Amino acid sequence: MYIGIDLGTSGVKGVLIDDRQTVVAEATATLMVSRPKEGWSEQSPADWIAATETVLDALAAQGLSKVRGIGLSGQMHGATLLDASDEVLRPCILWNDTRSHEEAAELDGDPLFRRVTGNIVFPGFTAPKLLWVQRHEPRLRERVARVLLPKDYLRLWLTGEHVAEMSDAAGTSWFDTGARDWSDDCLAATGLTRAHMPRLVEGSAVSGTLRAALAARWGLPKDVVVAGGGGDNAASGVGVGVVKAGDAFVSLGTSGVLFAANDGYQPAPETAVHTFCHALPDTWHQMGVILAATDALNWFAGMVGESAASLTGALGDLHAPGKTIFLPYLGGERTPLNDAAVRGAFIGLEHATDRAAATRAVLEGVTFAIRDCRDALRATGTQIDRLLAVGGGSRSDYWLRAIATALGTTVHLPAAGDFGGAFGAARLGLMAATGAGAEIATLPPIARSIDPDPSLTDAFDAGHARYHAAQIAIRGLK
Ligand code: XUL
Repeated sequence: MYIGIDLGTSGVKGVLIDDRQTVVAEATATLMVSRPKEGWSEQSPADWIAATETVLDALAAQGLSKVRGIGLSGQMHGATLLDASDEVLRPCILWNDTRSHEEAAELDGDPLFRRVTGNIVFPGFTAPKLLWVQRHEPRLRERVARVLLPKDYLRLWLTGEHVAEMSDAAGTSWFDTGARDWSDDCLAATGLTRAHMPRLVEGSAVSGTLRAALAARWGLPKDVVVAGGGGDNAASGVGVGVVKAGDAFVSLGTSGVLFAANDGYQPAPETAVHTFCHALPDTWHQMGVILAATDALNWFAGMVGESAASLTGALGDLHAPGKTIFLPYLGGERTPLNDAAVRGAFIGLEHATDRAAATRAVLEGVTFAIRDCRDALRATGTQIDRLLAVGGGSRSDYWLRAIATALGTTVHLPAAGDFGGAFGAARLGLMAATGAGAEIATLPPIARSIDPDPSLTDAFDAGHARYHAAQIAIRGLK
């Protein structure tokens, strides 16, 4: 048996799979995000551990004595700052925190970063956060002995080892993505050296073994291996079998991601597409990332005092986009805008705009943002032949029909529940324990395939054109 643990933004999810990759138990524990100032987004690493303990308590009810491997998946880019005794120095600055947008622009202005990392230095990435801490919390910065990504802090607790893996490391702006190694030059540009960084392994390789005290606490055998794992998007890719060119998934989580596997390393930073290592050796992937997917729907649901499920459940058949346009840039945007300062909008409100019309506009706005990601991927030559849908938002049929129609692509919905990166992490745990490789990262059984609605293609094209016009109109508003 194998355990996958996904440290998400809104919670920790754990799955237990058997040797045939059937999920036999799952558990979740909620996490809160703290937003003490505009643009800030933080979490306490102690909360991650507490949530993981809750998840392992629940999984242990199934009996964990046959577990051989554990895999980790996690929200990317967060800066977990530790002193020389591995004590946490401040709350982790998360992936959707934009406070370091000036530092990001500054680093991005140095051609070194795009050339070596293959990516724009986005404000949410890790390196600019360290520059921000240097400028605003200099005394704390002096005590930073180690920088870990969120799931790698969980690994430190699980194994006692400082280790990162390639897919998450590629999102730091300190990583030579083609060479799959830290870049001394990029580290030096933010006053760091390799000594601040964890050792690197591939996602499917062993990173350490579970500490004896934790094994005893939850009844696991001795010497359970912990795999490198992956950033949540790469781990999800392993979970839904998106590991070779042509295959892609759209993830409707807190953020929205259009993820495509690539045969080789093909950076195209000018498109604002992210080009990262995959969680399997010698593979890479690209993705367009939007900062608010279900985050936008949940914001709207909270504002009108309804649950997201009741709003989307009441929508009925797919409609042509109406006059009302929603731009989902609640906390700035990555692909294709790379703009931390842009903010969202409802445009084209009229007397007829009721709750259902506004809900449709929110779903359409996120859908059009995903179409922008598809266009950005296309501009790099990346082709999508098969598209799966994952994440909490994929429970809305209306949303999936809108995406299929706006992209002109059939969307396949996996039959298994919404496991996020946890299932892929469990697969990586299996690989690390047994030596298996990409061949076990098969496509999951498909519950349903949702085709584009040809009668609405023109209307969605026109809606996307209006969305673009609205995007241009609001970009000057700061
Ligand atoms: C990817 C990104 C997000 C987080 C969310 O670049 O920032 O998808 O990984 O967990």
